[in-house]
Amino acid sequence: MKKLTSEQLRTMYIKFFTDRGHKQIPSASVIPENDPTVLFTTAGMHPLVPYLLGEKHPAGNRLTDYQKCIRTGDIDEVGDSSHCTFFEMLGNWSLGDYFKEQMIAWSYEFLTSPEYLGIDKNKIAVSVFAGDEEMPRDEESAMYWERAGINKDDIYFLSREHNFWGPAGTTGPCGTDTEMFIKVKEKCSENCSPACSCGAFLEIWNDVFMAYNKNADGTYSPLKQKNVDTGMGLERTLCVLNNEQSVYDTDLFENARKKLEELTGIKYGEDERTTKAFRVILDHIRTAVFMLGDQNGIVPSNVDQGYILRRILRGAIRHARTVGLKEGGLNEIAKQYIEKYKDVYPELEQNKAKIDEEITKEYNKFMRTLEGGLKEFERTVRKLDGDTIDGVTAFHLFDTFGFPLEMTVELAKEQNLKVDVDGYKEAFKKHQEISRAGSEQKFACGLADNQEATTHLHTATHLLHAALKKVISPDVNQKGSNITAERLRFDFNLDRPCTKEELQKVEDMVNDVIKQNIPVVMQEMTVEEAKNQGFIGLFTNKYGDKVKTYRIGEFSKEICGGPHANSTGELGHFKIVKEQSCSAGIRRIKAILE
Ligand code: ALA
Repeated sequence: MKKLTSEQLRTMYIKFFTDRGHKQIPSASVIPENDPTVLFTTAGMHPLVPYLLGEKHPAGNRLTDYQKCIRTGDIDEVGDSSHCTFFEMLGNWSLGDYFKEQMIAWSYEFLTSPEYLGIDKNKIAVSVFAGDEEMPRDEESAMYWERAGINKDDIYFLSREHNFWGPAGTTGPCGTDTEMFIKVKEKCSENCSPACSCGAFLEIWNDVFMAYNKNADGTYSPLKQKNVDTGMGLERTLCVLNNEQSVYDTDLFENARKKLEELTGIKYGEDERTTKAFRVILDHIRTAVFMLGDQNGIVPSNVDQGYILRRILRGAIRHARTVGLKEGGLNEIAKQYIEKYKDVYPELEQNKAKIDEEITKEYNKFMRTLEGGLKEFERTVRKLDGDTIDGVTAFHLFDTFGFPLEMTVELAKEQNLKVDVDGYKEAFKKHQEISRAGSEQKFACGLADNQEATTHLHTATHLLHAALKKVISPDVNQKGSNITAERLRFDFNLDRPCTKEELQKVEDMVNDVIKQNIPVVMQEMTVEEAKNQGFIGLFTNKYGDKVKTYRIGEFSKEICGGPHANSTGELGHFKIVKEQSCSAGIRRIKAILE
């Protein structure tokens, strides 16, 4: 295997494909422009969906790029050796041009040729689709791999769960794929395969063969245009090529890592606790730099992408305290990334002042929040009976004041007090169960509790959202929601007040659906399935993750954690009581059920 720097790998990949007739296209924004249903660009193919569906791409039918991607579904896993919230995907596409035979031959060449990655073919395993009642076994791909030189024993036939990519929903292009793995250690058993979680196989590349369209009736028909969509993870590939312990040991993080060591006086890798903190800081600040410095850059806020950015920055600030990184330290780390990436992503350099300013602003804001928490902590201690802070109180400090458990434990220790950590975990779990299906969905729904009246208003909110889209514009999107047992409050984007007529139409439309007593149907499905069936919502979960969806006939389809009424007939009469401005470009509706 060749030792390569990130710059060399990027350049080598792009050159391999431009030498083979591909046009290099620039990395699209990580904040999608024309897709209100998604918060971030999560894969290289994402900005290319219209062209995969048949629209002509101005650069032709062979494309290649490196694409900045953000996936925050696994944010709590960051700190281990492989998870990152930001990553780069190297990719190439055939839009109705070459297909399996050519792509597999090129994949093999790029992976094994001494001119390119030079990986020993005996260290490579591949997976292909095993076939099921709907789609045939992909013997063809297996044959091409074998013909190219991959050992028969290293070709694994896996199920749809592993080797089918894209929407399995009612409509859209999709297809089986073939994935490439590096064998990084011995198999854990005879039956071990790339589907096993033991870590023997590390996936680095995925070739998707988009050959089908799934029709609304659930059947598949061959696509007129057969596409290839591939994605190679830059960080992971670098990590295995250079035999590094983790993605954080690659050159992408080197300057930032060294700066962190210099500023804290701690050596990276010294112990588990500081290693984790280092990795979280390294990951989160890199992601924040790409969010802030993007061509469609965003700033921290309490909704949508801004909320995720706030969460990421605050996570970094908390861990900065763990390793004693002082004020301004995170800004220094951010600067290292701007320097490292400025040639490949010039927008970072162009936005460096903004990146610096926003990190400082959020730092100061969070510090004020923490001060509030400190006061609350002192109040708690004064009132304390005994020597242990109970779990619910510790959780309250975290939930309301953003006061992390580790800080509560540390401060308690200074006063010879203990914290009921198990009780905290229990309170945390309970809270998660209530808010269901992760933080993204929590803030999307904004439910105060699970009372029946609240649930009814929640269903009414979905009807309101759908009615606003139909009456005013499909571009109207939820920007916030807060529901109590008494009323619903719904914020949405619109740069003018709604007219009386529009509000009346919306109200009538909702009441009409209520009168029809339509059942509210919950179904769990993957994000891709939901998206392709036309569900709206926040698609920040990982590909393959199951989400809950709620459908009210054909009127409303949303990804949502629930809970909801069983049927619209339960709701009563819907009435809008107020429509007002909420902030720049955002309107707020308050409504009740009578
Ligand atoms: N779109 C495919 C992926 O993201 C290549 O894995």
